[in-house]
Amino acid sequence: MKPNHILSILDVSSEQVKDLIDRGISFKSEGTGPILNGLSVALLFEKPSLRTKVSFDVAIHELGGHPLYLSREEVGMGSREPIADVARVLSRMVHGMIVRTFAQETLEKLASFSTVPVINALSDHEHPCQALADLMTIKEKFGYLEGIKIAYIGDGNNVANSLTLAAASVGSDIVLASPNGYSLDQSILGKAIERAQISGSNISCIESPQEAVSGADVIYTDVWVSMGQEEEVKERLAIFEPYRIDLNLMADAKTTAIFMHPLPAHTGEEVVDGLLESSQSVVFDQA
Ligand code: NVA
Repeated sequence: MKPNHILSILDVSSEQVKDLIDRGISFKSEGTGPILNGLSVALLFEKPSLRTKVSFDVAIHELGGHPLYLSREEVGMGSREPIADVARVLSRMVHGMIVRTFAQETLEKLASFSTVPVINALSDHEHPCQALADLMTIKEKFGYLEGIKIAYIGDGNNVANSLTLAAASVGSDIVLASPNGYSLDQSILGKAIERAQISGSNISCIESPQEAVSGADVIYTDVWVSMGQEEEVKERLAIFEPYRIDLNLMADAKTTAIFMHPLPAHTGEEVVDGLLESSQSVVFDQA
């Protein structure tokens, strides 16, 4: 039987997205039993991580399982050893894999050879666990998700892709403001629109941050240069300059609006100094 991989929000139905969020909220207050008792889970990370790595490690431990952290240097996936062999070996030794990697194709190849579930802990294309945690935070803050307006300002990157798909699954509206050429992946937009037609979400991609934040409940941004894009730093910092979240932009949203960011933040780039510490910011609860 094919294992249930989560490489994209698209691997989880809209109903499952809602259920995972509600279960997350209830697990947080009520806890769970030791549902991973006797199970081992590999955390295969090819890029740096703080929140994702520590939250998975601690969660697996608290659920009674055994987390094994494996760095890029130790495993050498695709260099020291073919991806297919890493998948086939780990499948015989652990019960699941949490994987952070550069290319979505690496995850897909790993999953295709794995007989245990593979969960995407960030790739160049998606960050599905981040999006689930984001919506969980929004539901905790507002009490509901349907009709919430999210304004995502900045790069149409991995975080934006997953957030848009997740918002479209639960009936939240999302407007993404990005510079020309840096908007959402077109195939993701198409899939999100398909889900939105059922959930009732409104989805749009525009260029003006001011227009995007008008009437928004959530102002969301991410770094302008993601891990793996370091060579584009100079060009990106210039292009994204008008997309910084400052107090003026926050003032154009609803007075009750919250500020979100997946962290780490580059203060002075996508967000002004002090906003993370403001009363509107929920970034540390989100983390
Ligand atoms: N877009 C960022 C997210 C980090 C959590 C990156 O990929 O580096």
